[in-house]
Amino acid sequence: MHAHIPPMMKPNLPPEALTTIDIVEQLTPADLNDLCDATDAAIEAGGGFGWVTPPAREVMERYWRGVIVVPERHLLLARIDGIVCGAVQLVEPSRHNEAQAFSAGLLAAFIAPWARGRGAGRKLTETAEKLALEMGYKVLQLDVRDTQDAAIHMYEKMGYQRWGVNPAYAHIDGKMIAGYYYAKTISPVIAPAKG
Ligand SMILES: CC(C)(COP(=O)(O)OP(=O)(O)OC[C@H]1O[C@@H](n2cnc3c(N)ncnc32)[C@H](O)[C@@H]1OP(=O)(O)O)[C@@H](O)C(=O)NCCC(=O)NCCS
Repeated sequence: MHAHIPPMMKPNLPPEALTTIDIVEQLTPADLNDLCDATDAAIEAGGGFGWVTPPAREVMERYWRGVIVVPERHLLLARIDGIVCGAVQLVEPSRHNEAQAFSAGLLAAFIAPWARGRGAGRKLTETAEKLALEMGYKVLQLDVRDTQDAAIHMYEKMGYQRWGVNPAYAHIDGKMIAGYYYAKTISPVIAPAKG
């Protein structure tokens, strides 16, 4: 049986601990538990998530169960030695959005602080890109607060190009924070019309 480990007691991971990514269509109770722990830890460390403080556990569980049932959303989980340590959602455009049918989004990416710096974030993003490509998408869009230095470094290293800034992106602890918008072409797109 899977042992539940509270977020502050995650083991000191050996360098050889295995990082894996999977695309999930359902959540076992153990995975849901670890996913909620990882989300709480990421929010407490300054997030990236819409939450500024962790919500009650049942609210968090409802959120993740909701993600699973939304047809346009695909949940990818990162694990270290089998324990869920982070996630990203690949979000497809709604079916009637013909004009933007080439473009999907990456939403709410995070790795719990205890699992950072081991390549899980990059692997998670690469797997989401591969899935998007297999689904026929040509461009991925994402946005990030300007305070998320690690994410900004990671996405820029991975070829995401900043195309816009929103000075009023997030309101946190009474302060307005800017946000950056990024896009990456994962497959050649039809050249834009000239003239
Ligand atoms: C961004 C985040 C997902 C990265 O996860 P991670 O598992 O630590 O990242 P990795 O170990 O795979 O590193 C990925 C790349 O980013 C770089 N990077 C990671 N953290 C960095 C930091 N603090 N400063 C500079 N570069 C950093 C790494 O050098 C690496 O580059 P490389 O593969 O070319 O060596 C993680 O820091 C996080 O969850 N941050 C908070 C939430 C967030 O900002 N989410 C994104 C917006 S919703």
